[in-house]
Amino acid sequence: VSPEQKAMLQLYQAAAALYHHILLNTKLGEAALAYTQKRQLSSRILDAFKIGYAPDENNLLLRFFKEKKIAFDILRRSGLFIENADGTLRDRFVNRVMFPIKDAHGQVIAFSGRALTVSDGQPKYLNSPETELFNKRQVLFNFDVAKNEMRKAKQAILFEGFMDVIAAYRAGVKCGVASMGTSLTNEQLYLLQRSTDHLIVCYDGDQPGMKATDRVIGLLREDNRFQLNVVTLPKQLDPDEYVDQYGAEKFQQILKNGLETPVGFRLRYLKQGRNLANEQEKLAYIDAALHELVQVSSAVERDVYLKQLSQSLEVTYTALTTQLQDYLVDAA
Ligand code: CTP
Ligand code: MN
Ligand code: MN
Ligand code: MN
Ligand code: MN
Repeated sequence: VSPEQKAMLQLYQAAAALYHHILLNTKLGEAALAYTQKRQLSSRILDAFKIGYAPDENNLLLRFFKEKKIAFDILRRSGLFIENADGTLRDRFVNRVMFPIKDAHGQVIAFSGRALTVSDGQPKYLNSPETELFNKRQVLFNFDVAKNEMRKAKQAILFEGFMDVIAAYRAGVKCGVASMGTSLTNEQLYLLQRSTDHLIVCYDGDQPGMKATDRVIGLLREDNRFQLNVVTLPKQLDPDEYVDQYGAEKFQQILKNGLETPVGFRLRYLKQGRNLANEQEKLAYIDAALHELVQVSSAVERDVYLKQLSQSLEVTYTALTTQLQDYLVDAA
């Protein structure tokens, strides 16, 4: 690392420490602290993740660093500030709960700030812009801690949001990571590959979560580095909400016993939005499901799903296999 990068890393560390101090020990942080408590973040968790608060104060961070005589150019390039039209800087993060984003070595390289209340026109989560140290395609939230946990657990769990990773952590599941509000990238898979060969996708149980899950399945379809499994939480809950409502033990159970194969998920996902009581739509679903099975290389695995489909759709097993054979020949 160059001296400038070192200065930048020190800047983030100092910013994280200041935000953390403001949340825990100051009057300015009281409302935010109440918010974090409402979100079940204990002081142990606030410490472990160095969660903080950027207050609703006029350029608090800028004044803090100016007092410390930090070079303007370092400040400008840090991403912690927004450049005004006249070239001066102002604080980027205002009135947000701050989650430090760390690299694989645990060094703070960026922040994500959550608004205390979500209102129109401002994002719920605001991330640092990309900088020379922060490339969001290469970063997984909590990877610095999770990388060793993944080796122990022989699996990694992918979550959608920071609060989900943290909820899993307080439920005793520490091998969880999340990407930075973007979909999973090849760079992130490369990171994960060094620690585990078993990925479990546990995204939100809602429609966007299922869509994102389907995308990961597509991304890993031809990839032989990983075994992939999916967990879909009930009632459209996200992991954070699930841990709140059902507790740690139930969460651990569903991560063990609720694992679905990619094909199992796909067959369920393809059913969404179709009315199977309608003949036309039922036939269309069967067709889509069989085309899904064409891509399954194991004959035994195909057979398991054919039996399931035959039972749930009340179509003879023979008809399904005959049709599938046709498609297999077409595909060959
Ligand atoms: N996200 C974002 N900006 C938004 C909404 C979402 O960057 N306006 C990203 C965040 O990384 C967030 C993830 O997408 O963690 C998942 O979104 P969502 O499910 O809406 O948020 P939660 O993680 O459930 O956040 P919270 O529980 O705090 O509402
Ligand atoms: Mn395994
Ligand atoms: Mn979501
Ligand atoms: Mn969510
Ligand atoms: Mn949530």
